Amino acid sequence: TVALNTAAKAAGKLYFGTATDNPELTDKAYATLLNNTMMFGQLTPGNTMKWYATEPEKNVFNFTGGDQIVALAKATGKIIRGHNLIWHNQLPDWVTNGSWTPETLAPVIETHVRTEASHYAGKMYSWDVINEPLYDNGTMRANVFYQTLDSSYISIALRAAHAADPKAKLYINDYNLESTGPKIDAMVHLVKNLLAAGVPIHGIGFQGHFILGEVYPSQLQTNMERITALSLEVAVTELDIRIKLPATDADLEQQKADYMSVVQTCVAVSKCVGVTVWDYTDRHSWIPSFFPGYGEACPWDVNLVRKPAYDGIAMAFKNC
Ligand code: G3I
Repeated sequence: TVALNTAAKAAGKLYFGTATDNPELTDKAYATLLNNTMMFGQLTPGNTMKWYATEPEKNVFNFTGGDQIVALAKATGKIIRGHNLIWHNQLPDWVTNGSWTPETLAPVIETHVRTEASHYAGKMYSWDVINEPLYDNGTMRANVFYQTLDSSYISIALRAAHAADPKAKLYINDYNLESTGPKIDAMVHLVKNLLAAGVPIHGIGFQGHFILGEVYPSQLQTNMERITALSLEVAVTELDIRIKLPATDADLEQQKADYMSVVQTCVAVSKCVGVTVWDYTDRHSWIPSFFPGYGEACPWDVNLVRKPAYDGIAMAFKNC
């Protein structure tokens, strides 16, 4: 069978990739497959580029973990999606619990974004500059940034990232953008406002954390095309499809069909640049600890054996 990054490129995509995380790299069998360039042409660091890891105290920066993943990507011929610069989660306490005014928080955002994006300038394919700014009902998430600066925090961060690394594609990345409804409507509205104000924004990431049987490819395609119609690119950035345990053989076949339809959708949308799974194996998936009773969300099982989902992805890339 065909290797997935090779298949993605043959289908005209830039990459098939995976999230990874620094502690997993000591797992030799895991790392061996991860390093295979024909299988994975892109990496997303799962945690070590986030604010809590990179600026744990004000103006004290640490890029050790991220640098390790950048070095690995370079050595194994992969591009990197930087993840992420601004998010309400995994923030250090000094940011979350600071008593901010617009005048004090704006420069903190600018310094964080500028310092991290400059450190990696020229090495990133893209940055998730803003992660998860919206609630599912389409209103702006009331994180510390929004509460202090209103939605101006988004343009402040995007402008700072662009100044620091003018070649990186700048993304806003969110979940539950895959079906029609108020959240995608709000994202389209946000993008239009940013473009009208001349703010640098180049892509929208559709995270793609699905529940088995709840992939609606025509809605996903419609939503991606609403974004690409604004001349942005899109990507599936964190794909996994979780199953209520124990998974039956029928569940694994359904999962194959679901993976296939997500990937087919990206293939069908010419400005969908690639697909990233939120780790390739159930051995290192976030799902069981965040959704008790669910699991087996990835295309490789805990023993690093390919599941039917693997063939679903390969078929989607091949039948284009
Ligand atoms: O680093 C500590 C470690 O010191 C401690 O011993 C251990 C005990 O629980 O926790 C470790 O921190 C964990 C961290 O991952 C690093 O491994 C946190 O508990 C854990 O909550 C955290 O989970 C991450 C999650 O984001 C946090 O929301 C996942 O690994 C990561 O895959 C996940 O990724 C997010 C994307 O960034 C955005 N979209 C959703 C996606 C899934 O939640």
